[in-house]
Amino acid sequence: MHLIETRDLTYVYPGSVTGLEKVNFIAPRNARIAVIGANGAGKSTLFKHFNGILKPTSGSVLIRGEPISKENIREVRKFVGVVFQNADDQIFSPTVEQDVAFGPTNLGLDEETVRHRVEEALRMVGMEDRAGRVPHHLSGGEKKRVAIAGIIAMEPQVLVLDEPTAGLDPQGVADLVGFINSLSRKYGMTVIFSSHDVSLIPEIADYIYVMNKGTIVASGTIDEIFSQAELLTSVRLDVPLLPKLIRSLREHGIDVSMAYTFQEAESAFLKAFKGEP
Ligand SMILES: Nc1ncnc2c1ncn2[C@@H]1O[C@H](COP(=O)(O)OP(=O)(O)O)[C@@H](O)[C@H]1O
Ligand SMILES: [Mg+2]
Repeated sequence: MHLIETRDLTYVYPGSVTGLEKVNFIAPRNARIAVIGANGAGKSTLFKHFNGILKPTSGSVLIRGEPISKENIREVRKFVGVVFQNADDQIFSPTVEQDVAFGPTNLGLDEETVRHRVEEALRMVGMEDRAGRVPHHLSGGEKKRVAIAGIIAMEPQVLVLDEPTAGLDPQGVADLVGFINSLSRKYGMTVIFSSHDVSLIPEIADYIYVMNKGTIVASGTIDEIFSQAELLTSVRLDVPLLPKLIRSLREHGIDVSMAYTFQEAESAFLKAFKGEP
């Protein structure tokens, strides 16, 4: 049984704008999934179905094998935590601490457990020293981290992040990558995120869905997707730099193994040019 599965999920916005068309998506346990696609591809619309914010026009969304219903919506929202693109919309309490406490308090947890979870979540996103601050006065990146902490404090099994790096500076992006990886490594959380920044994907994901105009046009491992330069270009995405460079070197007769992350590329180049093992 999959944690999340959509079957022929179709969603039409009022005014007959197609948001999604026959989307089949699967999130198995422990997966780290990237959903990539240009603006308007349908990423946010898809994510809004994962915790019942939008209801399918046709087709279905199954959470642990069960369709979302009035009866199980609370359980679903405990199980699948979604951090939306615009962090501002998710923050409304007078202090950072209170904001992060909102979700776990609503789950009916006792005060002691809530306090513990809030501390832990703020530590995980590196905001423990700003617990008493007014969220409204934080920077964009800090607000995003508070929004993420608020979701993590509910300890969902699946963490869904819609464009988590949008608006972050390079250090913010690096911190976020490290922190997402630690969530999936340490807590076995399944992570699903969307992005149109292809350089970031291999650092976090092990599986990719490519969306275009409300449909899924391809899915596969990093290797399977990033080797298809034409596919990426056709849906208005960049071809990642490292595989592009390595492919070009190979065409020039230089034997370098394929690499997608900085670390992989570094060892591939050292091996190719210095003969290091
Ligand atoms: N509230 C809305 N009302 C009408 N159309 C919408 C609304 N939100 C999104 N859409 C349309 O649905 C399609 C998918 O949008 P969206 O899911 O936001 O894409 P992405 O997140 O990949 O940028 C686009 O054509 C967009 O214009
Ligand atoms: Mg979006």
